[in-house]
Amino acid sequence: MSETEVVGDKQTITCLGEQFRVYIDRDRIQERVTELGRQISEDYAGKKPVLIGVLNGAFMFLADLMRSISIDCEVDFIKLSSYGAQKITSGVVHELKKIDAEITGRHVIVVEDIVDTGLSMSYLMEKMSSHRPASVTAATLLHKHEATKVDINLKYVGFKIKNLFVIGYGLDYGQLARNYPDIYILDEEVDA
Ligand code: PRP
Repeated sequence: MSETEVVGDKQTITCLGEQFRVYIDRDRIQERVTELGRQISEDYAGKKPVLIGVLNGAFMFLADLMRSISIDCEVDFIKLSSYGAQKITSGVVHELKKIDAEITGRHVIVVEDIVDTGLSMSYLMEKMSSHRPASVTAATLLHKHEATKVDINLKYVGFKIKNLFVIGYGLDYGQLARNYPDIYILDEEVDA
């Protein structure tokens, strides 16, 4: 038996025994990602930005975002140590995969699926800045603004969301559900 499943009306999935409901559907996601891509294309015309995707969660947003960018751009990836299921925010972030791109003098856009406490993005902005790029900005599909503990400037934000557990479209529950094209929240939190 599979551990994730679309149920009935396609508004609901089960994942590891929990029921989730669509929170942001695929059409809204694609519409917003297209807008962000258009904005980035305008802002970075002639600058050939390097997009740095943060593995694993950002891979799907990054892929769609790049398809919406109409100017020359490059891509690379970085992977940080996960906080794990409990999201214990020790504040200590390690790099499991470093970037390969030479970003000194380049225009860098760090691309995340979600900014929660902001510790990962804050670390990444500082880390990228240490390479002396021409500029560094942050793009995130989701921002849990009420949970963010650090002062960070997020230039491109897809959706500001409440402090809810979200899965789908790259975001996981026990490494599962990243493959679903919509974003879901726990059914019990729908009216929270
Ligand atoms: C998630 C997400 C961000 C980070 C955000 O990654 O992709 O990198 O947490 O949280 P923060 O704002 O509190 O730092 P996670 O560690 O779950 O790994 P994953 O991307 O592989 O799912």
